[in-house]
Amino acid sequence: MTTNNDLGARRKFLQGAAALGSAAAAGSLWPALARAQGAKVKVGLMLPYTGTYAQLGVAIENGFRLALGEKGGKLGGREVEFFKVDDESDPAKATDNANRLVTRDKVDVLIGTVHSGVAMAMVRVVKESGTLLLIPNAGADAATGALCAPNVFRTSFTNWQPVHPLGRIMAERGQKRAVFISWKYQAGEESAASFKEGYEKVGGTVVKELYLPFPNVEFQALLTEIASIKPDAVACFFAGGGAVKFVKDYAAAGLKDKIPLYGSGFLTEGVLEQQGAAAEGLLTTLHYSDALEIPKNKTFRVAYNRAYKSQADVYAVQGYDTGLLLQQAFEKTKGEMDKDALIKAMEAAVIDSPRGQWKMSHAHNPIQDIYLRRAERGENKVISVAWKALEDPARGCKM
Ligand code: BEZ
Repeated sequence: MTTNNDLGARRKFLQGAAALGSAAAAGSLWPALARAQGAKVKVGLMLPYTGTYAQLGVAIENGFRLALGEKGGKLGGREVEFFKVDDESDPAKATDNANRLVTRDKVDVLIGTVHSGVAMAMVRVVKESGTLLLIPNAGADAATGALCAPNVFRTSFTNWQPVHPLGRIMAERGQKRAVFISWKYQAGEESAASFKEGYEKVGGTVVKELYLPFPNVEFQALLTEIASIKPDAVACFFAGGGAVKFVKDYAAAGLKDKIPLYGSGFLTEGVLEQQGAAAEGLLTTLHYSDALEIPKNKTFRVAYNRAYKSQADVYAVQGYDTGLLLQQAFEKTKGEMDKDALIKAMEAAVIDSPRGQWKMSHAHNPIQDIYLRRAERGENKVISVAWKALEDPARGCKM
């Protein structure tokens, strides 16, 4: 049976199609029609809004919306419609969550996520569907390594990148025997492997790797073990709520003044206020510092603070850069959802980021400077550039 609604929709379709005769002849009817009828770009946000990484998910979304807001909330002149899922940093739910956005909501672009294990499931889903995926945090090496794909881009880092220079910094300070401690999941284990690789090259030895299940924060037994091992230093990967507890527990156990603590910079990102005196003086390496003397960083931080009444951190920067990257791509296609052209544009993009300018590697991961930072009175101060234009080795990527 044909209803009045069907007839109305059909009439609207035919009117649009008539106005687009030349586009149809050129074989690009659907995108042009979608634009003519004001179709919105469908953006799926799959991020953690609960759990230990909740604060990270919110900062990424805030940063993304800030970038879009600078262009009237549009992508290539088209309105954006958001579809949101709280992934809870739970890999067990990740495939279903990603499929919900890709298959049910039919998003044009999927953005996510924070947790490496969840991101791996997202990569597998989009390798099947062909949906564009932009990863605004999760460092899972394989996403732009062995599983790299034309439709998968990352605007953050690989787990290999931030800690790779850390071993050299510790060795230069005469600390040649270290313990690495983290959560037992992909980000922790890949960070440990990268740290070890860099540290051994300069004569360091990782005497023990210590792990606890994600997102467990019962650190006491492991801190007791560190005290008994007496290494020269400790390096770690923790982030979000867990990083707050770890830094406080490390100091409360009396270790801070005896065994220097280092980390990938996530340890002190967005959490310095909560960590208080326990974080003072900690040295970390990361692709961003709040104190970077770059005009773009200053204007970004002021705008972010004005919009969200909070301080921007690396997660906000990564969300912002995701917005900048998509904007550049959609501007190139003039709002068309032309996947091949969008991919080409993202491959060629230069991002004028608060972290400093960066561009994509052949594997679709940022080539970027890694900074050595010291936590001082609530700020991650830049000490030096620990590694200029560090590119992930993208092991196993066949693109
Ligand atoms: C990850 O799981 O890849 C990750 C989570 C938080 C901060 C950095 C990396």
